[in-house]
Amino acid sequence: MAALAVSAARSIRKEVVNPRWWSGAYDVIDTSRFIIDGKGKVCKSDLLPTSWLGQEIQEKYDDVGVLHLQNTGLVDMADQRTLARIIMGEETEYEGGANPRGRAEGLANVYDIGAPLMADLHYHHEMTYKSHSVTSLGFLCKHAVTTRPGVGWSFVSDSVQAHDYIMQTELGQKLKEKGLCFLRRMTDAEDKHMLDRNKQGSVYNHWQQSWMTSCPQEAEARANAQGLQVEWLDDKEDGRIMQTRYYKSAFEYISFLDRNIMVTSIADDGEWFDSWPGIMDIPQEKRPLEMLFGDNEPFTLEEKQLWTDIYGMFGIPITWKPGDVAVVCNMRFAHGRPGIELLPGEKRELGVMLGPFYERMETREDKW
Ligand SMILES: [Fe+2]
Repeated sequence: MAALAVSAARSIRKEVVNPRWWSGAYDVIDTSRFIIDGKGKVCKSDLLPTSWLGQEIQEKYDDVGVLHLQNTGLVDMADQRTLARIIMGEETEYEGGANPRGRAEGLANVYDIGAPLMADLHYHHEMTYKSHSVTSLGFLCKHAVTTRPGVGWSFVSDSVQAHDYIMQTELGQKLKEKGLCFLRRMTDAEDKHMLDRNKQGSVYNHWQQSWMTSCPQEAEARANAQGLQVEWLDDKEDGRIMQTRYYKSAFEYISFLDRNIMVTSIADDGEWFDSWPGIMDIPQEKRPLEMLFGDNEPFTLEEKQLWTDIYGMFGIPITWKPGDVAVVCNMRFAHGRPGIELLPGEKRELGVMLGPFYERMETREDKW
């Protein structure tokens, strides 16, 4: 099946983590619980929260934590945004995220994915590597490949089922006991060493872009306010580097589930860049992201593969058509997608919305 295909870049490399996005069966969650067919006839009055559609998308989302509205017939992304807003409420401005993003369609608070199409995007929860995350994510499909099944699909993974599985393993117990250290290395947009890197296309994110300021003190203050420890490094090849460390649980107490679940994955490790043009050639120790256990013990490749496989076991495809809207609870579900290689004439474009801020609380001892 196309969705299970491993990218060419990975298949010839041995020391990498291979994501397997889903089992190939729709048995993780009954699709009728989270898919709605708009029958190609969604009209302006359906965009109201009080409409049949507004009520149904809210009910399904409240029940499962993911909603995929298909076949809307909508061509205006602003209408898709209106529907997503029924569930998401007020959006969040994108600040301090791991990767740079522009605006999609010039719409306020609708962003480009901010990653190369050809890169595999491992399952992840958005921004759980810092204290401020978001409650939900909205995805609006502008263009999709509809003639080759599996190409361009996104995937979500049920973190409740993934959590229950990983806690049966030694890795789950180690994560619980030790916690995590998220390390980020951000380059300096104004450093002369960046001239070559810019030419090579191997720059990921400058700290100025991530923190929306060109003042290092201000960037540091914003990072500190989010619980990150900051070090400024002077790298022989890359010049000034802003390195941040953030120590956090791999898990989170989710009030509406009244339990702790896993909300982290290897997407915040160097593996994020294994198929990322330009950055895939940078050695692991210099890549912009790294993860360690909370006592600074590195992960083994086997541990990373197991963690990745567990998300894959509980993966569900989101099969895009233009006009589709998906809203995902950022705590209950991880999201990701395989790299995409388009044929001439094909397009695949999604806009992303970030829901209201979520302040991570970490775990509760009595809720394991
Ligand atoms: Fe994401």
